[in-house]
Amino acid sequence: MAAVDAGWAVIGVDNLEAKVAQINSGSSPVEDIADEQLQAAIARGSYKATTDFSIIAHAEVITICVPTPLDDKREPDIALLRSAATGIAPFVSNETLVISESTSYPGTMRNVIIPIIESHKPKDSVTIYYASAPERIDPGNKLWNQKNTPRLVGGINDASRVKALAFYESICDSVVTVSTPEVAEAAKLLENSFRLVNIALVNEFTQLCSASEINVHEVIDAASSKPYGFMPFRPGVGVGGHCIPVDPLYLTWWARQNGRTAAFVESADSINHEMPKYVAQRALDMVDPKISNPKVLILGVAYKPGVGDVRETPASKLRDQLKAQGADVAWHDPLVPEWEGSNSVDLEWECNVAILAIKQPGIDVEKLIAKGIQILDCTNSLKSHGGVTSL
Ligand SMILES: NC(=O)c1ccc[n+]([C@@H]2O[C@H](COP(=O)([O-])OP(=O)(O)OC[C@H]3O[C@@H](n4cnc5c(N)ncnc54)[C@H](O)[C@@H]3O)[C@@H](O)[C@H]2O)c1
Repeated sequence: MAAVDAGWAVIGVDNLEAKVAQINSGSSPVEDIADEQLQAAIARGSYKATTDFSIIAHAEVITICVPTPLDDKREPDIALLRSAATGIAPFVSNETLVISESTSYPGTMRNVIIPIIESHKPKDSVTIYYASAPERIDPGNKLWNQKNTPRLVGGINDASRVKALAFYESICDSVVTVSTPEVAEAAKLLENSFRLVNIALVNEFTQLCSASEINVHEVIDAASSKPYGFMPFRPGVGVGGHCIPVDPLYLTWWARQNGRTAAFVESADSINHEMPKYVAQRALDMVDPKISNPKVLILGVAYKPGVGDVRETPASKLRDQLKAQGADVAWHDPLVPEWEGSNSVDLEWECNVAILAIKQPGIDVEKLIAKGIQILDCTNSLKSHGGVTSL
């Protein structure tokens, strides 16, 4: 849609027929894109979706933005990236610019995508330009979007850099070019690892403070008064979504491939993974020990506020930990009607303790407070309420 707004005619190629049909019917599968915006673009003829890769023959620019998840060994799974490159290759035409926006380890463009396309491209596609420009979107963020977030671009050679720079300058207010695709790929992993380790640091710090009955939020506020060299991060149930818990493991894998260890990131990953267990224990400690099967209500199960996305949500581990300790668990989330085979309950569900896991808009926490329900607040949003326990 950012490219559409910049005047490009855009075609979205996806191998999921249902998604293509949904998009072409004018129903947006992306929370930050309104149906009306999509419908207007389709009506103007500036956007459509298709499962037909041969349409790529008409493209001057191809951006690859397929998922890059982890496999069952929690290692990079770039099968979709390979299959997208393989799908594109027979249809690239001479002078086409191929960009990867997918997050991956340094070297993915040079050593994976380019060899696939170069060995399967049509014989008359003599010159293809290549660049990495990692996606930086923050779903639900009303302030920072595709247009006003600076875009990193690393071309495989000068001509590729110039072409990719011109493309993103047509879409974004600011483009930062770097010397190679590897620098752009590595910068993306550094950005997300930075968040992961800082969240882990504050999650660990919270546990230390709590053991000494110090309010960690007051400590963070106090440290934040330093005008340089400090940036506040807040504790929570853990990290979720398809980026922050996933991308740093691309970094740890890449380190191992080079005979190194990313010990700091590995440690942060394990601290964050332990956080749901800690939160579960804190909540159960608030319940009368005479109650053998306490009823616990989780408020907010999406991975972050303002979205209905539950990918990698730490609420999943939180629920498992609570159940493992004999709790009867239900959940409430106005943006997630159905999750892992169960449905959101209403706030009438009688519970012994509620855990505010994320500050999801539309949760009427006041109603629970008025009923005298004990609440463990993992969001630092209820600090003005005396009866609420802060993480
Ligand atoms: N969404 C975000 O918030 C965000 C932010 C920063 C970076 N990223 C990165 O962007 C990339 C894409 O993430 P996403 O969340 O947009 O993915 P997504 O889950 O929304 O999926 C993108 C689409 O790719 C399609 N697809 C998969 N394999 C394909 C193939 N071989 N050919 C054609 N289509 C294919 C899927 O059907 C899906 O519709 C990832 O590398 C992610 O790490 C995403």
